[in-house]
Amino acid sequence: MDMQTIEQLQKLLNRPLALRGREAGNRLWLAPMAGLGHVAFREVVDGFGGCGLLFSEMCTARGLDTENRHTSPTFRWRDQESGRLVVQISGADPREMALAAERVAREGLFGVDVNMGCSATALTKRGAGAALLREPERAAAVVRAVRQAVDRVDPAMPVLVKFRTGWSPDPGPAVEMAAVLAEAGADALVFHPRVAPDRRTRPPVWEHIRLVAGAASVPVFGNGNVQTPEDCLRMLESTGCAGVSVGRMAVARPWLFASWSSGREFGPQVYREAALQLLDALELHFDSQRAVQRYRKFAVYLAANFCYGHSLLPGLIKGNSLEDFRHTARTLLQDGLKTGTRPSVHLFTR
Ligand SMILES: Cc1cc2nc3c(=O)[nH]c(=O)nc-3n(C[C@H](O)[C@H](O)[C@H](O)COP(=O)(O)O)c2cc1C
Repeated sequence: MDMQTIEQLQKLLNRPLALRGREAGNRLWLAPMAGLGHVAFREVVDGFGGCGLLFSEMCTARGLDTENRHTSPTFRWRDQESGRLVVQISGADPREMALAAERVAREGLFGVDVNMGCSATALTKRGAGAALLREPERAAAVVRAVRQAVDRVDPAMPVLVKFRTGWSPDPGPAVEMAAVLAEAGADALVFHPRVAPDRRTRPPVWEHIRLVAGAASVPVFGNGNVQTPEDCLRMLESTGCAGVSVGRMAVARPWLFASWSSGREFGPQVYREAALQLLDALELHFDSQRAVQRYRKFAVYLAANFCYGHSLLPGLIKGNSLEDFRHTARTLLQDGLKTGTRPSVHLFTR
């Protein structure tokens, strides 16, 4: 990337953003990802630095008010990240969502995010996630209830909503939904311009980010297929979004926040180092079975970095223990492996 692009990207990303009574340090955020954005992964991201806000995995609202943060697989964090952590909650019942949000507020975390983006059937059949986009009144009731619950504990805490285009390719309903959500009390929105139930096979329509961001009265972050610093700059410049939320590419390269926001350069050993760091963090935070499962999920995205990623992957996840994976990472992730600028599409749409 040329110097001018790097400088322009940094200028746009490194603008603090006031959200209600808090401030996000920059405008490059980690997207919420079930099974991937757990406490161990976020520790690795944090180690490299440069991420303005970290988002938790989706946490089911039901029962969250009494959840034990030291045993829950999803509602778990390090004290060091609490000032930058947004917990994402999912559900369809305003009362349940309010109870969950109140708990998040009591923990003194940065913010709470309402999931209106996930189109997995497990969620949508209960009216949660992207299903809420079919019911604007219920969506507004959820956000209002969440806002009121948070206000009772910590009026300075922002409420965010992550949503997608909706259930038809027409962007009109998303533009209207942005107004409904802001009116109900959302302080910022993260918009993924894809139609439900399409998961990630067809490209997101960035033009719809421009429409939503242009019409909304609160900051709108863009999300979807940002893989390179050039993509990031293009999304910012072509859509006018307030910032960018990165998902899968951040799993493939947890150092990208540091690289894009500060221009830090990383050598070829960083792939191995990141894998080993994650293995240590998984060992610290999870029991061995869960740690092994989570490493296997991560390894798909790690492998996607490499030109022959699909043939590398089986070797990377060979074995049944973190110690096995340490061995495979040290042996297979050699400095000379050829990487592409973009990840393997085949592995990325898994
Ligand atoms: C494995 C996986 C799990 C995800 N889980 C969630 C989730 O729990 N909540 C959510 O709002 N989005 C979830 N997403 C969607 C991402 O936040 C993001 O919108 C999507 O991956 C597109 O962004 P990207 O191209 O930068 O990855 C998930 C995505 C992936 C790949």
